Amino acid sequence: MSSQRKFFVIGNWKMNVDKARIDNIVKFMSAASLDPNTEAVVGCPSCYLSYARQRLPDEIAVAAQNCYKVAHGNFSGEISPAMILDSGCEWVILGHPERRTIFKESDQLIAEKVAHAQQTGIKIIACLCETSEDREEGRTDDVLFGQMKSLASISDWSRVVIAFEALWASNTGVLATAAQVQEALAKLRHWLRANVSDKVANSTRILYAGSVSSSNCRELAQLEDLDGFLVGSAALRPDIVDIINARRPDVSSLIAHFDRPDGRRA
Ligand code: PGA
Repeated sequence: MSSQRKFFVIGNWKMNVDKARIDNIVKFMSAASLDPNTEAVVGCPSCYLSYARQRLPDEIAVAAQNCYKVAHGNFSGEISPAMILDSGCEWVILGHPERRTIFKESDQLIAEKVAHAQQTGIKIIACLCETSEDREEGRTDDVLFGQMKSLASISDWSRVVIAFEALWASNTGVLATAAQVQEALAKLRHWLRANVSDKVANSTRILYAGSVSSSNCRELAQLEDLDGFLVGSAALRPDIVDIINARRPDVSSLIAHFDRPDGRRA
């Protein structure tokens, strides 16, 4: 947690929305009071990028969930950063754990996508993940630092956010503890300090992903090296509003505070 780094929450809709569902999410996100100190983004399927962009308030940015490594050409089924920008959206998620594990995207391919995306000016949410096997077999550091190398081409870190996902804690019924989350994020920040610079380590936002909900977001939001969340299932529900507001003082305690004539908490 650092005042130098703006809190960042991306609600990743994955392949779980259609127009009616987007309309419903837009409705509750637009009606809510969102913390202006949080940068809020949604991750949208490519066919709905323009639709979501046109309906969401300007304060909520839109990200594509993936893109290819060149601007155009004969690559059926792919989209490019230029197309995402042309749809009015400014972010792209790259290396999402589902791209890595289900679609077998390699660190090398992700590195090429990151390099091209950065050249176009699009902002990147670069994901890293740890599987339960990585954790059980004690190879987490090697895996994470190997994934970090995919970011070697980045020259403008102000347009990059890193997201670490504990895959073993994503919809598995097991939750990562605050200590486990802090340990992983601190390692990534240390890697940036050792391999890029102090300035980049101090200014780059590092997010946590893995079953973040309205129940665990407030505790995690206080962690020293945590700057926000990548949220999956809770992004489809009004929970996302609580997660965006995870660092906002609790409204009920404020009311109790102002209720007393002497200004002390009730
Ligand atoms: P989850 O998904 O919050 O449902 O665990 C996070 C993600 O994979 O983007």
